[in-house]
Amino acid sequence: MPGSTNTILEQNPSNDKGSLITILQEVQKEEGYISQEAIVKISRHLRISRSTIYGVATFYSQFRFNPPGRNSIKICLGTACHVQGGDFLLNALQLEIGIKPGETTEDRRFDLGRVACLGCCALAPVMMVNNNIHSRMSVIKLREVLSKYE
Ligand code: FES
Repeated sequence: MPGSTNTILEQNPSNDKGSLITILQEVQKEEGYISQEAIVKISRHLRISRSTIYGVATFYSQFRFNPPGRNSIKICLGTACHVQGGDFLLNALQLEIGIKPGETTEDRRFDLGRVACLGCCALAPVMMVNNNIHSRMSVIKLREVLSKYE
């Protein structure tokens, strides 16, 4: 909602550049991501350049710049999953849904991200969709798993 960012900015004084992270966190919490429009508004409010804001926000992996998809896919690239072909799986998935980590498909069906470890290494390679763990994943199983999520 466009109004949400305005409300957040009103609550954070414009002379406090140190509030940038707080503002970014609040905007993401409210809107689900940091939009271009929000960056422009924050930039005007705090008098910080947009490139500086992007630089700060991209440093912290918690921020996303695309709207979340209806289904959120996380590919695990921790050591156990990496060894079991996690990268291969990620590449196949990128080709299948046409986006890279940090992006959302145009129809908003999926967004894609990487994680360091999902805590179930014995089931590697692992992929999580929303809160569901898909274990011992393979490229062959990809389409079948994706078809469960509209
Ligand atoms: S490394 Fe993937 S679940 Fe631990």
